[in-house]
Amino acid sequence: MNDFGAGSSGSAFGIPPLVDPARYRPSPDPVPRPSAAEDSGDTDRVSDPLPFPVSAPEPVGASAREPVIGVTGRPTPDLPDPRPVSIHGNARIISMCNQKGGVGKTTTTINLGAALAEYGRKVLLVDFDPQGSLSVGLGLNPHEMDLTIYNLLLQRDVTLDDVIVKTDVPGMDLLPSNIDLSAAEVQLVHEVAREQTLKRVLAPAISEYDVILIDCQPSLGLLTVNALTASDGVIVPLECEYFALRGVALLKTTIDKVIERLNPTLQIDGVLATMYDGRTLHGREVLQRLVQAWGDTVFHTVIRRTVKFSDSTVAGEPITTYAGSSPGAEAYRQLAKEVAARCLDV
Ligand SMILES: Nc1ncnc2c1ncn2[C@@H]1O[C@H](COP(=O)(O)OP(=O)(O)O)[C@@H](O)[C@H]1O
Ligand SMILES: [Mg+2]
Repeated sequence: MNDFGAGSSGSAFGIPPLVDPARYRPSPDPVPRPSAAEDSGDTDRVSDPLPFPVSAPEPVGASAREPVIGVTGRPTPDLPDPRPVSIHGNARIISMCNQKGGVGKTTTTINLGAALAEYGRKVLLVDFDPQGSLSVGLGLNPHEMDLTIYNLLLQRDVTLDDVIVKTDVPGMDLLPSNIDLSAAEVQLVHEVAREQTLKRVLAPAISEYDVILIDCQPSLGLLTVNALTASDGVIVPLECEYFALRGVALLKTTIDKVIERLNPTLQIDGVLATMYDGRTLHGREVLQRLVQAWGDTVFHTVIRRTVKFSDSTVAGEPITTYAGSSPGAEAYRQLAKEVAARCLDV
């Protein structure tokens, strides 16, 4: 796999420099604009043409239609709506993981979950951050929770059914958390098989749900190691800022250690570029750097920067219901299709 930015040049922090801006001035003969589905940001209407040199594969046979080049500089796949499922179960467990805060982990957990639920999947969201943002973002009051995932982790007599709450999104449930979870990190140290605790408590949910999304805390401590050990896949949300590339090598090292020592079947399901602003050269360069480093691991779907996400958090609901036809909601539906095609409908 790739080296995630821990590359060869001698720039600060071991990160390769961004591409030379001079090489990527918008050409006088611009490449095609992204499709309506890709051009989903409400801020990007004034964007320059894409700065990437585009080398789309030549269609074989004269009748093949031109591939649409997405914002990541690659031909956009034409993805089907996830196929309906009549029997639920055999859930794939996916962690949203990045030790940097504010990169869109919680936002992605809520909205990817809500979009998959719209497509008829039964979804369980796991708030695994003591800050409890996922629970608050779904309208729960952190001071009014009787039982949280903390109780599930540390009290043998508490069951999943005692803790799971329904959300206002049909088909989407939540394992809530609050600040109590911060104590679990310390207390788990004394447990036998401490890294497998979350895996053990989530096991009964696998037959009930189609997908379980774990919102990790912004650290690589024991809670995150528990999440990675319990997971089949990991999605890494990355903000399209230069400094966001820092630390990704460390995250990759942690994932590799978990694969080696605790969970040999863990896969990286994808890297998700978030908070993309196509109007700035900087945003476009960071996205290109991301694709250079991670290749096809980067989702074609890119989440653009829009204030609608903060608004929907305040409203305590996913953007798919708060502003259902907004570009942000459409982007997460597109991501749901990509995730389903990559790792659910296989
Ligand atoms: N695409 C986006 N555009 C603008 N703001 C965003 C976007 N995604 C998330 N945000 C906002 O940024 C903040 C941090 O996002 P969050 O999902 O909580 O990150 P994390 O869980 O990684 O700490 C929140 O206030 C959220 O509403
Ligand atoms: Mg968060």
